[in-house]
Amino acid sequence: MDSQDEIPFHFVTPLKESSALSKKAGTPVLIKLENIQPMGSFKIRGIGHFCQKLARKGCKKFVCSSGGNAGLAAAYACNKLGMPATIVVPEQTSNKVIQKLADLGAEVVVTGKVWDDADANARHLSETPGSVYISPFDHPLLWEGHSSLVLELKAALGTQKPGALVLSVGGGGFLAGIVEGIAKVGWSDVPIIAMETLGAHCLNASLAAGKSVTLPDITSIAKCLGAKTVCDRALECAKKYKVISVTVDDREAVQALEMFLEDELMLVEAACGAALAAVYSGHIQRLQQEGKLEQLKGPLIMIVCGGSGISLSELQNYKSQFGLL
Ligand SMILES: Cc1ncc(COP(=O)(O)O)c(C=O)c1O
Repeated sequence: MDSQDEIPFHFVTPLKESSALSKKAGTPVLIKLENIQPMGSFKIRGIGHFCQKLARKGCKKFVCSSGGNAGLAAAYACNKLGMPATIVVPEQTSNKVIQKLADLGAEVVVTGKVWDDADANARHLSETPGSVYISPFDHPLLWEGHSSLVLELKAALGTQKPGALVLSVGGGGFLAGIVEGIAKVGWSDVPIIAMETLGAHCLNASLAAGKSVTLPDITSIAKCLGAKTVCDRALECAKKYKVISVTVDDREAVQALEMFLEDELMLVEAACGAALAAVYSGHIQRLQQEGKLEQLKGPLIMIVCGGSGISLSELQNYKSQFGLL
């Protein structure tokens, strides 16, 4: 076995008590700090695992479509493996992210308005022999890689079970991976609060319709949650496990990321603000009052998924956009 295959590219991240979030939620909250992963998000867990496995099978080049963070993870993994990467991003991707991708040695191709447009081109570009397409969220190896997060939670918590997990949903790969993890460690009865922003709420819309729904457009600022259609596996997980789907608006996501910056001195993007808003906007207490979430028997685990699509000046812009100055 190649040594690169033995050592995963992701870190084991800290699980830290947050007194500020605990106070706001009225229950102990532990934050799982995926924002400190290489390239700033949990994405490296699944994508790193995918690339290592495929590289071992003789793949010569990777092509990934991305709203940002998946592409950064793919470029990082390929850089570590010494393999070429093409990352196809939509037009709204910031120059900062494009520069980071280029700095990692990736070829960057800009295609279309939203991620779905970029994805169609990535699939096309990967049709050359030796190339492999990386979906940012829809592949069993990605889910297996993401499930490592739950194994870490289990190692950190020992016999204590989480009361609930909170995460953000885009195309649903993270949700699918976390569900795989909870099934592996015997936590299948732990509720998962699946957060989306309105305008990128493909899981919520599909659950409401009882079938897979494609959103007409992505209107949320949380572009990394901006898949128009959630992957089938995530929808299956949401139906089979205790998944509670909640939407917040962009303003709540921005407010949450700003409060998190104040409380924990860490800056994360709006995609992560959606998860943080579960506590900061009072959705946990609301769900309990409405009888949709049981009284928690263990700590609430807030997965701080991270994200590179943010800067202090972008936060200022969001604040002025949503009247938060
Ligand atoms: C920071 C961040 N959080 C959450 C998500 C959602 O992950 P998924 O698309 O697997 O649902 C993404 C997706 O890119 C992301 O970048």
